[in-house]
Amino acid sequence: METTDALDAVLARHAGRPERLLQALIEVQAEHGHVPPAAASALAESLGVPLARVWGVIGFYAFLSDRPQGRYRVLFSDNITDRMQGNQALLAAFCEKLWVEQGRLSEDGLVSVDTTSCTGLCDQGPGLLVNGRALGGLTREKLDRVADLILARTPMDDWPAELFEIHDNVRRAGPLLDHGLAPGEALAAALARDAEDTPEQAANARSWREGHGTPAGATATLEEIKRANLRGRGGAGFTTGLKWEACRNAPGQPRYVVCNADEGEPGTFKDRVLLARQADLVFEGMTVCAHVVGARQGFLYLRGEYRFLLDPLNAVLDRRRAAGLLGNGILGRAGFDFDIEIRLGAGAYVCGEESALIESLEGKRGVPRNRPPFPVTHGYLQKPTVVNNVETFAAAALIAKHGGDWYRAMGTAKSAGSKLLSVAGDCARPGIYEYPFGTPVSQVLADCGAGNTLAVQISGPSGVCIDASEFHRRIAFEDLPTAGAFTVFDSSRDMFEVARNYSHFFAHESCGFCTPCRVGTAMLKTTLDKIAAGHGTPYDLAEIDKLDRVLHMSAHCGLGHTACNPTLDTLKRFRPMYERRLKSLDFEPAFDLDGALERARQMTGRDDAGAHLRTEP
Ligand SMILES: Cc1cc2nc3c(=O)[nH]c(=O)nc-3n(C[C@H](O)[C@H](O)[C@H](O)COP(=O)(O)O)c2cc1C
Ligand code: SF4
Repeated sequence: METTDALDAVLARHAGRPERLLQALIEVQAEHGHVPPAAASALAESLGVPLARVWGVIGFYAFLSDRPQGRYRVLFSDNITDRMQGNQALLAAFCEKLWVEQGRLSEDGLVSVDTTSCTGLCDQGPGLLVNGRALGGLTREKLDRVADLILARTPMDDWPAELFEIHDNVRRAGPLLDHGLAPGEALAAALARDAEDTPEQAANARSWREGHGTPAGATATLEEIKRANLRGRGGAGFTTGLKWEACRNAPGQPRYVVCNADEGEPGTFKDRVLLARQADLVFEGMTVCAHVVGARQGFLYLRGEYRFLLDPLNAVLDRRRAAGLLGNGILGRAGFDFDIEIRLGAGAYVCGEESALIESLEGKRGVPRNRPPFPVTHGYLQKPTVVNNVETFAAAALIAKHGGDWYRAMGTAKSAGSKLLSVAGDCARPGIYEYPFGTPVSQVLADCGAGNTLAVQISGPSGVCIDASEFHRRIAFEDLPTAGAFTVFDSSRDMFEVARNYSHFFAHESCGFCTPCRVGTAMLKTTLDKIAAGHGTPYDLAEIDKLDRVLHMSAHCGLGHTACNPTLDTLKRFRPMYERRLKSLDFEPAFDLDGALERARQMTGRDDAGAHLRTEP
């Protein structure tokens, strides 16, 4: 089979490693603008996977394609905040300037323009991706420049660098964003704490890391993580110390440490900023975890939308290797060997779910696994694996340095430490705010310059929507738990349209594995579209409740469980925004059956009463 030099290089890099299929496909896509059949076959052969699996993976990820895309593939971010910042008008003007229709390849194959889910630039939107590279702060002028560069066929490496500037927008720093630690300090503190282990524990730790013996050693640092009462920052809030302990006690080697940097929840961008500013702290937390659980290999799963962070992050890893903070014999400790590899995602929100993420790391479609067994015993390649959020690892590094009591002194009794919030929407100062847990919503609103606020969506579409009567509530696991999104809507906003945007998001991102979610999210979207088109009835509103019950009872993962949340929350708090769109009828079908028969009538040349569905008088 004929292969190009570029494809040969991809094949050589990944040959014989089926778990690298997704990474190989991302490279082929970047080179060719799609995955040609010959490349798919060559990859199947070289990596040793069935061709059907290769096509299955290509079909799963939004950023991969089996058909040619434009030489410049432009994807406008379509989160609700992008819409509030006028992305639709900008998209229309951009398409007009380039003479291209949304969703279609231009005649000359130069450009294709479409939308994609939130790209994590809500504090500087609207945003878009060109061939996977992120641009924020779009204006007519900026898009005109982009269009001119495309029309002139300018290679992207020659585009002005300022077009790709992404700002961190840190507005309020706390212990995470302002820690003052030098690289290696937290790790050294963890290793020093090993002196508290008994000689027997220390000996066990050495032999255990070499593949035999019982888990022990690094006990003192694990105790500090537990004493800190650190809970996961990715959404579910599981106790980190217990997770690490379960992995450490699980039988089997090797073990893995995985950092979840998929950050696909619309409205969330705090991991982007942590990785841009505090990568050392995150990698240090992963290394501390490796020391505690006895892992030699770690992965950072970076969402494809954050590809611009890949080179800087790899540079940090190189620097850490050179400084003896990664690799063999870390900080001079014989037997403490650990390294980190970055793997990219390719546009699938569900891959943030930890078991789907592991499937994706293994080069497969990101379909959530059945749980139990949990990743701590059967994770990457069925081996014990810790999966934690970016912010959780950063916090763990701080605890390794300062101890559990220090950490626990911040926040509330049930929610220790600080929390990063990604503040966006209707406020004067969007960006990243770090607060101690227990901070009331009203303070965040005051700090970010929000006025006349109607509602706040806490933790993105899978979280909760609150109205002004609840702004006294606190950011804390015991009151308003959040993975970080804090999206503000002022009184000019239509909360029905907010919920409708989120329903489109869930329908688009459902992985399709289980019927209740695949069909249920599509039904929810269709129902809200029907209401938007003026055909909704009270019957439709009642159906949403039933749909929610079905999804809660029978969906396979959290995406399905939470898909109705924004609709039910806004319906409860802003019902008139729905009701004013309803017809007074009790029921109107979502599907126009008589209209669908029009083609049959044309073909038979009939249009008499008998050729129409009978309607009741
Ligand atoms: C649909 C879905 C998407 C998720 N996306 C993310 C994500 O982007 N980042 C993340 O850390 N956790 C995400 N989670 C939660 C993870 O499954 C998991 O709980 C988390 O990574 C564990 O880390 P933590 O204990 O540090 O929070 C998601 C869960 C679901 C159901
Ligand atoms: S609930 Fe939805 S996203 Fe989760 S497995 Fe089922 S279809 Fe996939």
